[in-house]
Amino acid sequence: MTATNRPLACVILAAGKGQRMKSKGPKVMNELLGWPMIKWLLESVRRLEPDRIIVVVGPGMEELVQAVHPCEAVLQPQQDGTGSALKSAMGLLQKFSGDVLVILGDTPMITTASLWHLIQARRQSADVGIAVLATEMANPTGYGRLLLDADGNVVRIREEKDASLQEKQVRLVNTGAFCMDGKRLERWLGSLNNRNAQKEYYITDLPEIAARDGYKTRVHVTFDNDEVRGCNTRAELFALERIAQQRMREHFMERGVAMQDPQTVYFHFDTVLGENVTIEPNVYFGPGVEIGDGTRVRAFSHLEGVKIGSKSVIGPFARIRPGTVLGDEVRIGNFVEIKKSSIGDRSKVSHLGYVGDCEMGEDVNFGCGAITVNYDGFEKHNTLIGKGVMVGSNSNLIAPLIIDDGAFIAAGSTITQNVPADALSVSRAKEEVRKGWAAIYRQKKTERTTKKPKPVKDKTDPQKVES
Ligand code: UD1
Ligand code: MG
Repeated sequence: MTATNRPLACVILAAGKGQRMKSKGPKVMNELLGWPMIKWLLESVRRLEPDRIIVVVGPGMEELVQAVHPCEAVLQPQQDGTGSALKSAMGLLQKFSGDVLVILGDTPMITTASLWHLIQARRQSADVGIAVLATEMANPTGYGRLLLDADGNVVRIREEKDASLQEKQVRLVNTGAFCMDGKRLERWLGSLNNRNAQKEYYITDLPEIAARDGYKTRVHVTFDNDEVRGCNTRAELFALERIAQQRMREHFMERGVAMQDPQTVYFHFDTVLGENVTIEPNVYFGPGVEIGDGTRVRAFSHLEGVKIGSKSVIGPFARIRPGTVLGDEVRIGNFVEIKKSSIGDRSKVSHLGYVGDCEMGEDVNFGCGAITVNYDGFEKHNTLIGKGVMVGSNSNLIAPLIIDDGAFIAAGSTITQNVPADALSVSRAKEEVRKGWAAIYRQKKTERTTKKPKPVKDKTDPQKVES
């Protein structure tokens, strides 16, 4: 996507402790739509096809190093500012004479398009040493303010903590994304000092230093505040999550997905929905959900790790757990849980059931309240159900178990033995009908609760009758 053949290196600063976030691991590992912030950034950056991507990490951030692999990670031994973080990456960019795109790890929603425009702003002319991505915020509190000269060049960037009252009025803010001339960067970094309110080495001092060296800093402005919002606190993370969710909803609606109340539907970063899908209110998509054309997910359903075919109906109140594959025209009804199972086309699990570790063929009717008993307290076992099987209501299918094609399981059965094709398997306690028993029982109970009980003529004591 880069317009010229000039080499491009991208450095992502992610070594900060994230103290304001108060999370245990690195701040950039906090998730948006279930995906770490750093992954969102890497995705946008990769589309630029840079020659190198370097992520600056702090001590003990092995988890982050793994997450960014195969991108290079470099250690910033001491978290003493964004300028110092960039310095840490320079060891890897010794002979690099292209452009260096610097991005803060806590601005995860930045778009490839804005980064591309930023790079072009730096490449406008040879005397532009730095380009900065800016935006105008209605409330700029917390952001570095851009102070410009009459020609629109950046004179300096003033951090909130160092800004005068007048400077705080400026609403054009630093998003933290810069594109810099790699040939001069090391020299400029050498001039940084930490004489500021936070006693840190600020990357934001570089425009002033470049200006002293005869180079300009140009600004590229994005009008979309949301894509460049920083994420320092839990509240800001929540705000970003809301924005990201809304973007997903709009993305799906543009592709023809029908939603009655989109604000109550929550997606994951990797949710895939086909054409003509309908999502009723209050549905949660966890990771790894793929839904085929024309399928309807009814209200209050929770789905994760499932691939669903077309024209199926899921829910209301269904829970689908990871490792599940549902075919076409499948019906999963209310209060049904499916885990790590495959269910063939046109099969139905319509009410109150549990299907776990099960391979179910096509055209099966899995009756109300029936369950696979897949766990013996130590291990999980599989149930295989062939095509066209009828599982009667309230059956317990004790795994490991094979029920062959066309078999019939009588309602209320507890099945422990394999069932051959087209057979009936029934396993119930012997049924007994005792005529008049209930009437006698009621009479006796009534007499006992009165003050002067009369002797009962019948000798049968209903209490002693086995029930
Ligand atoms: C920074 C900018 C501010 C800008 C805002 C945009 C500076 C001095 N300030 O402020 O002008 O408006 O972002 O969101 O740059 N980091 C390191 N090592 C460090 C310190 C930070 O790698 O020693 C990383 C952090 O992990 C983070 C990023 O740099 O991803 C930004 O640091 P942060 O502390 O969030 O800066 P802000 O106060 O938000
Ligand atoms: Mg920040």
